[in-house]
Amino acid sequence: MLPIRIAPSILSADFARLGEEVAAVEAAGADLLHFDVMDNHYVPNLSIGPLVCASLRPRTGLQIDVHLMVKPVDRIIPEFAKAGANIISFHPEASEHVDRTLALIRECGCKAGLAFNPATPLSHLEHTLDKLDLVLLMSVNPGFGGQSFIPSALSKLREARKIIAASGRDIRLEIDGGVKVDNIRQIAEAGADTFVAGSAIFSTKDYKATINAMRNELAKVKR
Ligand code: DX5
Ligand code: ZN
Repeated sequence: MLPIRIAPSILSADFARLGEEVAAVEAAGADLLHFDVMDNHYVPNLSIGPLVCASLRPRTGLQIDVHLMVKPVDRIIPEFAKAGANIISFHPEASEHVDRTLALIRECGCKAGLAFNPATPLSHLEHTLDKLDLVLLMSVNPGFGGQSFIPSALSKLREARKIIAASGRDIRLEIDGGVKVDNIRQIAEAGADTFVAGSAIFSTKDYKATINAMRNELAKVKR
């Protein structure tokens, strides 16, 4: 099994103090920084873009995990690579040519991820595994932080984990949406190795205590 990673989503951070918030989750033991990009077109919300990524880049040693909820995607990918993104994921519905977009991300020197909405079938993995570093399963509909975990994501995780294992490839399985201290163990048991958590971390006073509580739950995982 691959090492577990906790990825705070800065969508729930205090944007007026974003640099401090990033430093705080890094000091609290985050493994990755999840960076949600929303365009008010593919999803009904507007967030942050490459300029913000570039200004955070020199302030953190964490890898930046960019989750594009934008359509179209290709034009913005080189911009995020230049802005210091390490991983870039997009939704297959947002690209006319999924294979080309995956190749573009790798050509830009980043790891490539494909993001699945709750109703997006895993059949998109059939012809893409050779170009993938990450599968990002959404356990809420994209667009907002603070929504509840959709339980059917658990069986989808189990299915995705089987597909990844059968491929024998080094592909990470990330879950995004409604992850909390009290459900993270069950989510890990279903096969996730990377856990995005926005409101569950940033709504608490002590980020370190929250991340540690998540790690304690993860330590009990039976696989
Ligand atoms: C939703 C985003 C998530 C979101 C998660 O569209 O992709 O990354 O920030 O927030 P929580 O953890 O609060 O559900
Ligand atoms: Zn996200």
